[in-house]
Amino acid sequence: MSDKATLKYQDKEIELDAITGTEEETGLDITQLRAKTGLITLDPGYANTGSCTSDITFIDGEKGILRYRGYAIEELAEKSTFMETAYLVLYGELPTTEQLALFEKQISDESYLHYGMKGHFEGFPDKAPPMAVLSAMLNVLSCYNTDLLTTATEGPKFTVPAAKIISKVRAIAAWAYRTSQGKPFMPPRPDLSYSGNFLHLMFSQTFDMYEPHPDVERALDLFLILHADHEQNCSTSTVRMVGSSHASMFSAVSAGVGALWGPLHGGANCEVIKMLTKIHEEGIKPRDFVEKAKDKNSPEKLMGFGHRVYKSFDPRAKILKGQVDAVLKALNISDPLLDIAYELEEMARSEEYFIERNLYPNVDFYSGILLRAIGIPVNMFTVLFAIGRMPGWIANWREMHVQSLRISRPRQIYTGATLRDYTPMEQR
Ligand code: SDX
Repeated sequence: MSDKATLKYQDKEIELDAITGTEEETGLDITQLRAKTGLITLDPGYANTGSCTSDITFIDGEKGILRYRGYAIEELAEKSTFMETAYLVLYGELPTTEQLALFEKQISDESYLHYGMKGHFEGFPDKAPPMAVLSAMLNVLSCYNTDLLTTATEGPKFTVPAAKIISKVRAIAAWAYRTSQGKPFMPPRPDLSYSGNFLHLMFSQTFDMYEPHPDVERALDLFLILHADHEQNCSTSTVRMVGSSHASMFSAVSAGVGALWGPLHGGANCEVIKMLTKIHEEGIKPRDFVEKAKDKNSPEKLMGFGHRVYKSFDPRAKILKGQVDAVLKALNISDPLLDIAYELEEMARSEEYFIERNLYPNVDFYSGILLRAIGIPVNMFTVLFAIGRMPGWIANWREMHVQSLRISRPRQIYTGATLRDYTPMEQR
């Protein structure tokens, strides 16, 4: 079978090479299309367009498959830690005992923020959205590391900024939260795990150290594993777009935070809780809400449902659903929002509207309930998503430079006014 496609249009004809990946996905290489035919393709939202080849993550949306560097998310969720998974996503292989110990020590050593950054936090108003603070402070972090603003993909010029960002993002997030609460900053505790340290930075008081419940610490670590990477989604594509101009890793992940903030993307985990809370507090029947979500004239969506790639259950949603149950039982708490979530899922999965559009729960549908159960405030949910996604963003930023990709600059089809003369004011 030919590994080429032929495109014919009017008097133009071009052969396009077919590129097939290790999972038998095939794409047509159109890199010479405009040069040879003057034509471009048009794909708003890029639903049919591959921006790169990548070795990092593989998703099969029809089968509900997600793998980081070939390892199934279900196995990593059960057997790995976020630090081990971050190493895998960044460097391509599971670490040896020694490699993991060195990586964890590097991350632990980078836990502190330069004291000079404290003043920047005090400049934000109390109600500052934490995602705005996070995006800004990642660029401020670069101001204290001007020797690391390179596009290096090997050695300390890569491993050091990568470790700084993955480690310090916790203190930046926790300090953003504590500033909004008028609380003093806590120094990190090197004796705690990556996730345990974040919980300590968030919730410890000067004379009352927060000791994370093992099930809570494990639940947060699992949440971060599940969010570590996810192919060329909106925010990862943004990181690549910014990085393609040779802007620094700090600037690229800061831009990624901005893209992730949107309610259709990473912001959905907050929107799910707002939706469930509204249903609970206003006594809305879940059936009535589902009807609104189906109604094109209604602004309501079933937040946490649907996905550009998954046309069956998002495997992360399945794992989180099980984890929520376990954490609530371990902490001996119940959450009425979980019962509503179950009811909505049950309804949606038997509704023609959702079935014919392949709308299933995505990663955000249960993640918010899990974060609520471990005490994270709603306005910090998407910040936690960003903390988890840092290894994936950095791995994609690095892969782009290893592949020496050109600056990203999409084309367009112009549909505006054709040439016209300037008209003097009196003639307008
Ligand atoms: C993430 O890409 C990634 O990998 C992202 C992510 C990651 O890990 O990085 O997985 C994280 O962003 C998960 C998605 C979180 N967003 C939400 O939960 C918001 C609610 N979902 C939708 O907004 C929507 O499903 C998207 C944004 C997720 C996907 O949008 P698409 O692929 O552009 O699909 P669409 O909007 O064109 O919807 C197709 C149809 C439409 O109906 P019709 O015009 O065909 O009649 O499905 C309907 C939509 O109206 N639809 C929904 C719906 N989602 C889609 N109807 C009701 N409720 C919903 N949630």
